[in-house]
Amino acid sequence: MAGNAWDAREYDEQFGFVGRYGDALLDLLDPRPGERILDLGCGTGRHAAAMTALGARVVGVDADERMLAKARADHPEVEFVAANATDPGLGSLGVNEPFAACFSNAALHWMTPQDTVLRNVRSVLADSGRFVAEMGGAGNIAALDASLRGGLGDVGLEALDVVANHFPTVGEQAALLEAAGFRVEMATWFRRPTPLAAGTTAADWTRHFRAGTWAVVPVERRDELAEAINRRAVERGLRTADGWSADYCRLRFVAIAAG
Ligand SMILES: C[S@@+](CC[C@H](N)C(=O)[O-])C[C@H]1O[C@@H](n2cnc3c(N)ncnc32)[C@H](O)[C@@H]1O
Repeated sequence: MAGNAWDAREYDEQFGFVGRYGDALLDLLDPRPGERILDLGCGTGRHAAAMTALGARVVGVDADERMLAKARADHPEVEFVAANATDPGLGSLGVNEPFAACFSNAALHWMTPQDTVLRNVRSVLADSGRFVAEMGGAGNIAALDASLRGGLGDVGLEALDVVANHFPTVGEQAALLEAAGFRVEMATWFRRPTPLAAGTTAADWTRHFRAGTWAVVPVERRDELAEAINRRAVERGLRTADGWSADYCRLRFVAIAAG
């Protein structure tokens, strides 16, 4: 399930900003015609398709079959492969030909253990290969997760699990990258408070990105839980006159596979 039960259509329609914000990463990567590029945690394939259109030979990899099914339907010109980033050698993807680069947007923080994943990426990259990624950074969606936990407590469901993502500081991620065989050329952390789509509440955000928690909430308790989460989110400043927002914090890096 790759940390979440993904609803591919809802992801693109209601939370499409996640992918769109990743578009700027493509400039950092600067994909070149003919290069073999891995899109790790490619989701519904937006960036894999964009890099293919630039002439790169892209392999989009994801662990979630529903995301892959939509990626294949929307972008039949791209090769998509099902693999878990924790699989040794990423399921042997780099055996025949190493990748010149790895791109990853909004996906690495779902992948644990992170040190295993980074070593796997290194193992499929050529020496001097580029690894360009954006992921959740330290403090990412802290207010949203606290609102979910608070809301669960308010309705007596505090025992339910909430998935824990890997949201590192720059220093933590740089140390992991170096230990995995990368030289870090750039790493930066920044806040990205993000307006949610019209009609989407904080509780709706948790329904999508914390679907595993919601799946075990009895159906007849769900409206009550949504109200409790939204109350908590208002207290945490996630609702303004303009609507609901998410307290995203991102970490971007460029790392080079050391020879
Ligand atoms: C928020 S989506 C991002 C999708 C896409 N990169 C984008 O920018 O729209 C995160 C993706 O990472 C994938 N993912 C999470 N954990 C994974 C793992 N261990 N191995 C492979 N893919 C994983 C999920 O299935 C999901 O498609």
